[in-house]
Amino acid sequence: MFTNDTLNNEVILITGGGSGLGLSMAKKFAELGADIAICGRTEKKLIKATETLKEYGTDVRWYTVDVREYEKVGEMVRQIVKDFGKMTGLVNNAAGNFLSASEDLSPGGFKAIVDIVLHGSFNCTHHFGNYLIDNKQEGNILNIVTTYAEDAGSAFVLPSACSKAGVLAMTRSLAFEWGTYGIRVNAIAPGPFPTEGAWTRLFPNKKFEKKYLEKIPAGRYGEHEELANLASFLMSDMAPYITGETVTIDGGEKLSGGQFNFIDSIMSRGKLKTAFKMLKKMK
Ligand code: HXC
Repeated sequence: MFTNDTLNNEVILITGGGSGLGLSMAKKFAELGADIAICGRTEKKLIKATETLKEYGTDVRWYTVDVREYEKVGEMVRQIVKDFGKMTGLVNNAAGNFLSASEDLSPGGFKAIVDIVLHGSFNCTHHFGNYLIDNKQEGNILNIVTTYAEDAGSAFVLPSACSKAGVLAMTRSLAFEWGTYGIRVNAIAPGPFPTEGAWTRLFPNKKFEKKYLEKIPAGRYGEHEELANLASFLMSDMAPYITGETVTIDGGEKLSGGQFNFIDSIMSRGKLKTAFKMLKKMK
């Protein structure tokens, strides 16, 4: 069970923490006692988010930094250590995504997403990891990927699928390589959790949304609190032996490709059961 000191003594940087899922995780971490650093590109958003986060009573600071800029990320990590006295955790949450037929992508469009998602995660992880190793300090890294980062990939979001697959490979590679330093590296693969950033870009209309919902056995989207709870668990001392793991949180959506899953969409479950009974009698 979480208590309000579960994340006491933690100083966690959440990239893209000014809004969406990043802010939801930051709120939960602060509620559980962590000091919080958030970064992003839009100062106004960060200031507003910081005001909200301060209500939980822990130390909260914001840094206007684009994760694509390696040197600036380094300066930020050093500044966080100066401001808080240490840094113990990193959540690579900042992301970019848009829908496009892959043949219509411009090299610049592909690069923009790879730069934010893959290079951005590397930049933060590399600076934070070096800080931990140099200071012989243990720490935690959590990467927010997607359910399409492995196995199937996904049509129409090619740059995101390629980048998130890279972040997943980074998660597993570093979990092993840095395990010896006491650095844990895990990932969460969220299914659909409504946020303004993702929804305006990826769910253009209601029909689209309705079709999407049909794929989710749970019959609903995820609640931010559900993801924030999982992130808190992975970032806490409750999970000291978990590393290199990717936890999917998607109401079962990822499983929608099962070979006979489509049968459910042909008729109601009641009619389906009757049909199965008739098939049994035919033996
Ligand atoms: C095609 C596009 C495009 C679009 C941008 N580009 N939007 N191409 N379709 N809709 C191209 C541009 O033409 C340009 O290429 C290049 O991308 C960079 O565009 P800029 O606008 O100059 O870049 P920038 O300001 O850096 O913006 C980055 C961005 C933007 C990613 C493109 O959308 C953004 O800032 N997004 C941040 C928030 C976000 O995306 N949130 C959703 C994450 S959801 P050229 O070649 O013309 O120069 C997520 C979860 C997925 O990841 C799972 C959900 C279920």
